[in-house]
Amino acid sequence: MTYQGLIHTYGHLLDLPLHTRTVSLLEGRTPLIKADNLARHLGGGFELFIKYEGLNPTGSFKDRGMTAAVSEALGRGATTVICASTGNTAASAAAYAARAGMKSIVLIPQGKVAAGKLAGAIAYGAQVIQIDGSFDDALTMVVEITNKHPICLVNSINPYRIEGQKTAAFEICDELGSAPDWLCLPVGNAGNITAYWAGFKQYSGLQSGLKSAFLPRLLGVQAAGAAPLVVGHAVENPETVATAIRIGKPARGEQALQAAEESKGRIIAVSDEKILDMQKLLAKLEGIWVEPASATGLAGLAEEVAGNRLKVEGLRVVAVCTGHGLKDAEIITREMRKPLVVPPRLEALEEAVLGN
Ligand code: F0G
Repeated sequence: MTYQGLIHTYGHLLDLPLHTRTVSLLEGRTPLIKADNLARHLGGGFELFIKYEGLNPTGSFKDRGMTAAVSEALGRGATTVICASTGNTAASAAAYAARAGMKSIVLIPQGKVAAGKLAGAIAYGAQVIQIDGSFDDALTMVVEITNKHPICLVNSINPYRIEGQKTAAFEICDELGSAPDWLCLPVGNAGNITAYWAGFKQYSGLQSGLKSAFLPRLLGVQAAGAAPLVVGHAVENPETVATAIRIGKPARGEQALQAAEESKGRIIAVSDEKILDMQKLLAKLEGIWVEPASATGLAGLAEEVAGNRLKVEGLRVVAVCTGHGLKDAEIITREMRKPLVVPPRLEALEEAVLGN
């Protein structure tokens, strides 16, 4: 049978109202790629898999929650959706709204959204509004406007976003036959870690007798300059190269902390330098190019393993890589050395390639 998207595949496990009218771009079913080279680089002796969420239709994991949120909104007759976003939610909301024949409005922090995300939102026909402020300011504003006007909020405060995003946990369990021992992932507004935990808990409940086999420990990772869940209070001026997770007041922060604790895991922070190093390492060792935020979970794993705080020997670890590298090509190109230019002659090419 041809694949028909997440609501078709997992709808029976999702708490969606009867009025839901499926809007899908055949999101989900993303590859779980074994990363032996990187595992060896981190010391070896364990299995590492990358859940490559950048291969969703709009290039990030947001499509999982968006198929659910927009389908619910369409089914109840909403005509307009709105979100605050660091970029990926904006592109995803715009794409699903376009497919549903709805209007989309996206609020983004001025100058802090990667070009590939902004371009997506515009291409899919969203009304893009820049806020002279942070993501957190933008989120406050979309909550206020949707409390006042009949516009549907599709940030992860919307419960159907979480329902949709649970499917990533289901897919991992289905593919591995159980949960991994550890799941590491970036944490920004904290919707995704909340959804994964809900998904794993639900799946473990379905497998009677195997309960613990379907519950991983969670390693949530924030960028050091935007780590409210690590420092224990809101961060007024969050700053990080990983603009996707440049968030100081995560909407689902409490739930994220609870998920980490319940799972016997934790939430940690890593520096921008480590994030960018991991982004390059993953691309060079495995051929998997992700945006900086998406390398954050792996950067955290590497730090914990190197510091002997996390013993992975004999374990199975899944790292969620949330968005595609093409979203933020500039982060690579702005630092690269300009490629060599040679005249169109074989000898010149030979000299460049063979060095003689
Ligand atoms: N990775 C990427 C690539 C993201 O875009 C985001 C969030 C996260 C990780 C963190 O997920 O917020 O559920 O903890 N991006 C949101 C956006 C904020 O607007 O696109 P989270």
